[in-house]
Amino acid sequence: MAYTAKTFALNPMNGISARQVEVHIKLYEGYVKHVNLIRDTLEKLKTADTPAYVRDELRRRYAFEWNGARLHEYYFEQFEGAPAPIDPESTLGATLARSFGSTDAFKAHVLEVAATRGIGWIIATFDPREEHVQVSWVSDHEIGQLAGAHIIFALDMWEHAFMVDYVPADKMRYVEAVFANLNGTILSQRFSAANGNAPSVAPTSIM
Ligand SMILES: [Fe+2]
Repeated sequence: MAYTAKTFALNPMNGISARQVEVHIKLYEGYVKHVNLIRDTLEKLKTADTPAYVRDELRRRYAFEWNGARLHEYYFEQFEGAPAPIDPESTLGATLARSFGSTDAFKAHVLEVAATRGIGWIIATFDPREEHVQVSWVSDHEIGQLAGAHIIFALDMWEHAFMVDYVPADKMRYVEAVFANLNGTILSQRFSAANGNAPSVAPTSIM
């Protein structure tokens, strides 16, 4: 079964150019391509006379490609629709207030983590067991993911995410631009789904 690349309904953004978005989405599609390439290659190797370590290394590589694809979907989807702040009165807003002090303090914390050296992601995740949001750093795409925690926000901190528009020394301007274009409603929807409060879908009647 093939992993299918998504398309994103993005409006022009402030501080993130159309060219930057274009090259970044091409890169996302490359991760999708390699997810499928590894799947296909592992399938072919089932019957091939190949040393086991070849399959082992492909399996190790799979999480890099798969998370690379999926994290970019979290990233681009959160810009769809119109920019909107996270509503402090929402359930997500209340949870961020409990976890960080306020929605503004959440953003300030993300900015602090964004100073982390290296390539990777900042992810904000909701853990239903502890009922709080954590902000953590993921190296590459797969090193440091928190098992069982649901992604609410994903901030790409690879240099390819901003270097069409900003030099590395100006990466905080990129992070500010991400927040300026963020649709907080989508973050709230992710939170509601993770928290078991997703809007219910009307059941299909069974005749
Ligand atoms: Fe990226």
